[in-house]
Amino acid sequence: MSGGIPASALTEQDAAAELARLAREIAEADAAYYQNDAPTLTDAAYDALRQRNAEIEAQFPHLKREDSPSLKVGAEAGDGFAKARHGIPMLSLENAFADEDVADFAARIRRFLGLGEEAELAFTAEPKIDGLSLSLTYEKGKLVRAATRGDGQTGEDVTANARTLGDIPARLAGKDWPASIEIRGEIYMAKDDFAALNAREAAAGRKVFANPRNAAAGSLRQLDIEITRSRLLRFFAYAWGAVSEPFADTQSGAVQTLAEWGFVTNPMMVRVLTVEDILSIYREIEGQRAGLPYDIDGVVYKVDRLDWQQRLGFVSRAPRWAIAHKFPAEKATTTLLGIDIQVGRTGSLTPVARLEPVTVGGVVVSNATLHNEDEIARLGVKPGDVVEIQRAGDVIPQVLRVVKAGQGPAWDMPEVCPACGSAAVREIDEAGEVDVRRRCTGGLICPAQAVERLKHFVSRKALDIDGLGAKQIELFHDKGVLRAPQDIFRLRMNIEAAGLPPLEEWDGFGAASAKKLYAAIDARRKSEFARFLNGLGIRHVGQTTSSQFARGFLSWQAFWDAVERAAEGGPGSEGYLDLTGIDGIGDAAAKALIQFQAEPHNREMLDALLAEIEIEDETPAATDSPVAGKTVVFTGTLERMTRDEAKARAGALGAKVAGSVSAKTDILVAGPGAGSKLAKAESLGVRTMTEAEWLELIGDA
Ligand code: IVH
Repeated sequence: MSGGIPASALTEQDAAAELARLAREIAEADAAYYQNDAPTLTDAAYDALRQRNAEIEAQFPHLKREDSPSLKVGAEAGDGFAKARHGIPMLSLENAFADEDVADFAARIRRFLGLGEEAELAFTAEPKIDGLSLSLTYEKGKLVRAATRGDGQTGEDVTANARTLGDIPARLAGKDWPASIEIRGEIYMAKDDFAALNAREAAAGRKVFANPRNAAAGSLRQLDIEITRSRLLRFFAYAWGAVSEPFADTQSGAVQTLAEWGFVTNPMMVRVLTVEDILSIYREIEGQRAGLPYDIDGVVYKVDRLDWQQRLGFVSRAPRWAIAHKFPAEKATTTLLGIDIQVGRTGSLTPVARLEPVTVGGVVVSNATLHNEDEIARLGVKPGDVVEIQRAGDVIPQVLRVVKAGQGPAWDMPEVCPACGSAAVREIDEAGEVDVRRRCTGGLICPAQAVERLKHFVSRKALDIDGLGAKQIELFHDKGVLRAPQDIFRLRMNIEAAGLPPLEEWDGFGAASAKKLYAAIDARRKSEFARFLNGLGIRHVGQTTSSQFARGFLSWQAFWDAVERAAEGGPGSEGYLDLTGIDGIGDAAAKALIQFQAEPHNREMLDALLAEIEIEDETPAATDSPVAGKTVVFTGTLERMTRDEAKARAGALGAKVAGSVSAKTDILVAGPGAGSKLAKAESLGVRTMTEAEWLELIGDA
């Protein structure tokens, strides 16, 4: 801890050394607190470090370091790593589990590209490495930046750490590389290195890692790069992002080139032509899985031709031209100790199995979902039974079947909400179907719903407020200072109004974390459109849908205006069509928005929230495209591309694709056979063009 000598009695040399140590220790504590959600110091100890740093700096102002903790404020302080925006977003992959999913994938691609049965469609197949992805930027052949995936758009700058890896060249070999390129691949830890690391950690009395993936992630994101260096991480290159000029025609050719530039590429990658061959490669790799020196969790297939990859493009967060075929889930047998009921933020009651802890695929599992009461009846499961469970990847483990029935009595789903005592009912939908879920009718009076909604509002995929996690939400809710989302922005005031001591004096807070929390909240007084909308937790309006609305409307005001007009005019009204005209938006989302808007308490909540925060306009996807922000309708037969492809391409260029023509339509692309839409467009004076003219306009001719 801090030296006991008063700052005024330190020699210059000792003061400089102590400032260096303090900078490092505070940065480490910040990283543990902010990035790993695992504080390593008590608030008091943390405050003492900062206090000491301030004293020494006051005494020796000329020794103040460039990385001094006193120069960093609020939420920024803990961001141990600088943010790094990717040139092209880092996406994830869609998953396939069954053989049919793979056949569907290939069929979908043929349909999208308009390929006949006989046309050759080659894929690459390669192991899916169970690690974490990394993007390496090379300028003129030199490594200038390494960034983690982060949220896909922006990651963390881990350049210094990445430079310690033998598999990551500081300079590209050869000389035929693009002037600028983002190389992507997977960081992982070999099974042997993982076992040795855990043995060392255990011997030193430290916490061991759950699996090689966690160990790799924890080892890369170290503020002290010497720790990263000692952990022996490895890297496979398998893809690229932004690139200044094309460097290959095929995926397999590109990977071959990456190897020539000095990267390690996976030796098991092959090129295959049929679904049958894909599946036999899958089984071959699955057979080798246990004997490989590193963990894999499936096989990735990618369309080999890069011009086709380009045409196929992306759907929300995954490319259309690739899929991850996952290995089957791992299973285990254990005893069902009891069934708890969880109340979700929409009021749905989910039965959760409490299990005798058991290890499945290297992770200890003590809870599993039972989905709903019909599932429990189907399984015929009750407390005391021995059950088989399975765990696939990151999804919540499931109960598969009863292996041996116990002596316990049958179990019945409660008909009242365990959190608020309101009736819990199964709704009947428009088609007369009974909902499988039972929902609490308590609405906002139900504390479980309120708390779950609040947790969702601040979660990573929504407002993402650092330091405001599940624990803090529960605490503030219990204290009565946080009931609705807008209260987050009035926390200080609410605490005072409730006659409670300031947060700085609460148990487990302290000056430093109270300050950080308020700063993190204030940082969200400007929020992103899609995150904000997702955070509202409206049914059928999740992360993907929210992003689609944000990209379609760009401004919150324009979006909400459409919702209000849709609520007033009902389905079929112009406002309603403005909503459903956005690519990817269907009736479910539009109707849910209308329902949400119809509730006075929701409108009040929104007004209150908007009085506290400003919602930033979304930046159009491709501002330099001539069709960005334009509303386009396609009609008639398209000859050079399929309808799906045309819509996807227009969307990628920032245009809004609508299904029907209205006064708001900017362009109607009419192929042969166009009928009423063309007539309507002409009567409204909407600009119309042929497919060839459209392609010329967007530069695809
Ligand atoms: S390709 C645009 N190939 O899996 C698609 N990803 O679940 C780029 N991964 O985020 C990814 N092995 O971190 C690709 N051979 C492989 C992979 C692989 C592992 C990871 C990657 C990605 C995640 C998606």
